[in-house]
Amino acid sequence: MRVAKRVQNLPAYVFASLGSRLRELKRAGRDIIRLDIGSPDLPPPQVIVDAMYSIAQNPTQHGYGGYFGIPELRQAMAAYYDCRFGVKLDPEKEVAPLIGSKEGIANVALAFVDPGDTVLVPDPGYPTYSLGTLLAGGVPVPVPLLPEKGFLPELRKIPPDVARAAKILWLNYPNNPTGATAPLSLLAEAVEFAREYDLLVCHDNPYCDVTFDGYVAPSMLQVPGAMDVAIEFNSLSKTYNMAGWRVGMVVGNPVAVEALARTKTNIDSGIFLPIQQAAALALTGDQGWLAERNEIYRERRDIILEVLRARGIEAVTPQASLYIWARVPEGYTSGEFAERWLEGAGISITPGSAFGAHGEGYVRISLGMDTDRIREAMQRLASLEL
Ligand SMILES: Cc1ncc(COP(=O)(O)O)c(C=O)c1O
Repeated sequence: MRVAKRVQNLPAYVFASLGSRLRELKRAGRDIIRLDIGSPDLPPPQVIVDAMYSIAQNPTQHGYGGYFGIPELRQAMAAYYDCRFGVKLDPEKEVAPLIGSKEGIANVALAFVDPGDTVLVPDPGYPTYSLGTLLAGGVPVPVPLLPEKGFLPELRKIPPDVARAAKILWLNYPNNPTGATAPLSLLAEAVEFAREYDLLVCHDNPYCDVTFDGYVAPSMLQVPGAMDVAIEFNSLSKTYNMAGWRVGMVVGNPVAVEALARTKTNIDSGIFLPIQQAAALALTGDQGWLAERNEIYRERRDIILEVLRARGIEAVTPQASLYIWARVPEGYTSGEFAERWLEGAGISITPGSAFGAHGEGYVRISLGMDTDRIREAMQRLASLEL
């Protein structure tokens, strides 16, 4: 048996390998507080769970979910974009449901990247932009996100020949892992850049509704002309606490949406129908609870920041996302610092190096954990010898 070369060199997904390490520690009797993964700990509102449950009682709702999703879901996705961003979308041509946005992020590479093609990916960045590219035989080209630039890419520093050769430019604001937010002007600059170099811009926006302190995140599609060159990935995972349900969407340029949707028809067979119906309800129902939920994250953010600062660990206060991006003190690599928290205090965080070379020197701390457990973690951190 011979595994393909592309898989021989493929690392296990960072959180898949971390999971086995943590299971070992647990077996050894350690109580580990997981602040590593960006999975919301809270459930979606009961009305959404009830809707899914009652639709699942219907014997006709257990077949394949349809290659392009049910019309009600595509319409609900378009209605959400209209209501949330004032962006009008054709639910037939400019919207496609995904089995979580990660699936679409990986599959869009199969739709656009030929072997040897290059893709501009943020560094640090969500790993699937690079790994999807590699699976398609492409080559990720890192675009550094630097602290002195607010973790925004300097697009004009990309050499013109590199930009011209690339197929896709990835952007992600509010950003994972840095928690940075971008003004609409940065997204407009990316549209201009894509036009000049004939790129597809993929903007990944799953944290647009996980925001604090009155911050309102934009959609790339609010930029005039964005529909010509861009698609946006979005997700119900973080906005509606539905990470395990696996529902996301791609919206925007109809040629790109169709190419991705057609690719997908050959790979998957759609989303479970009761999940699609409940997702439509989440997108179009009462959104008032999101402010209360975000207030819970905001409180957690402040609990963590207070202890980090008391320990002399620098971190910018994020206005959105589920993450605090904290600077590693002198004398540690990011891996060593994360290991120190794990061994010394039973707190699992993610080394910044998991997100690319420019993530070295940082660790990522997630807010997706019960507030009392976060308090406990911070008590442990307060007395950890560093
Ligand atoms: C930036 C970013 N994009 C996409 C995803 C994937 O989300 P999902 O596949 O649950 O929609 C995540 C999840 O952590 C993320 O952080």
